[in-house]
Amino acid sequence: MTTLEGLRRTPNALAPHYSRFGVADRLLLTGHSHQAWPDVALVGQTEAFDDAAAAVDGKWDRAFARAERVREGYRRLLDDPGGEIALGTNTHELVVRLLSALDLRARPRLVTTDGEFHTLRRQLARLGEEGVDVVRVAADPAESLAERLAAAVDGRTSAVLVSAVLFETSRIVPHLGDLADTCQAREAELLVDAYHALGPVPLLVKESGLGNAWLVGGGYKYLQLGEGNCFLRLPPHSETLRPVVTGWFAEFSALTGGEEPEHVAYGPGAIRFAGATYDPTSHYRAARVLDFFERQKLTPSFLQRVYQHQTGLLARYFDDLGAPDELITRDRDTPRSAFGGFLALRTPHATRIQEALASRGVHTDSRGQYLRFGPAPYLSDNQLENSIAVLDEVLRNLS
Ligand SMILES: Cc1ncc(COP(=O)(O)O)c(C=O)c1O
Repeated sequence: MTTLEGLRRTPNALAPHYSRFGVADRLLLTGHSHQAWPDVALVGQTEAFDDAAAAVDGKWDRAFARAERVREGYRRLLDDPGGEIALGTNTHELVVRLLSALDLRARPRLVTTDGEFHTLRRQLARLGEEGVDVVRVAADPAESLAERLAAAVDGRTSAVLVSAVLFETSRIVPHLGDLADTCQAREAELLVDAYHALGPVPLLVKESGLGNAWLVGGGYKYLQLGEGNCFLRLPPHSETLRPVVTGWFAEFSALTGGEEPEHVAYGPGAIRFAGATYDPTSHYRAARVLDFFERQKLTPSFLQRVYQHQTGLLARYFDDLGAPDELITRDRDTPRSAFGGFLALRTPHATRIQEALASRGVHTDSRGQYLRFGPAPYLSDNQLENSIAVLDEVLRNLS
């Protein structure tokens, strides 16, 4: 049974399961971007090769079983039993498929925020160049964001697209359930980018009032699934949508040779949002890692405790440095419980500091004016303390 005390210790109780990534001997504070994979991930990758070698084209039944395991993993994480889950290599392909299903001629308005990850930012900006009316609501202050987005929804709005946790600041966006109600009342779709929630912040579909919303996310960050494991959770009314961007797997159950060239048919449920031939290795790896998380009892509520502890500790060690605010600071007005799985420090020197940290063996990253420290369950308290001690060194050299 994994306990918080076991993770705090040196050596961290989970660390031996990550021997290939050597997590006990490195300071990998990029947990918000890409966590280490447990050793069982390699077993999954080898299985994918072995199935391909043994069954050749017959491997697909085995591959689809792994894909179903991944869907089931997301259903459990979202507490969405029986939920319809489409899988994709990245969130971009899934978002594009959803956007292609909207009636942008009749309802040309898309409402989003200025704090979205580049996948949405760039794609929506490009659609804006083509004449779609893209409304960008200020992400700050996050406390009132859902309300301000709801106010921007009108009868011409096709969809609202917003993150559950903001990727630059780690701030949780509250009241998304109320926004979902407004969207439903005005017949607009709500897409929640849950990538930074899954792992550190439980996002339970019904409890959050998101039963009628679309959720997109993936496993490359906190879930340790590696690349190629993204998902789109469909609301019940998705049955009425016909994505224009559609791969042949979307009519899999209907492929019998009797297709009508003039009329595009869709399979049931999430099949309607499927793509085409993909590399199934990622699902084999993910299936193993999801099993590992369940064996270790790394449940959403336990993980939330771990991340709250770890980011709280990083914040405290950082505050103890007494660094001048104009050099580097953090949002001290908002309680830690309003943040997700990383500590965002604001500094005009984010890139320089990140590079100096990396040259001293502390791996972090930076986004604009934010330096991001992302812990992970396999790091001990000592490792967190050591990484902030290195930050202290770097700041002294800088000033
Ligand atoms: C909020 C958020 N959404 C999505 C992504 C990933 O997008 P994609 O899967 O399209 O590369 C990231 C980061 O990688 C992110 O931070």
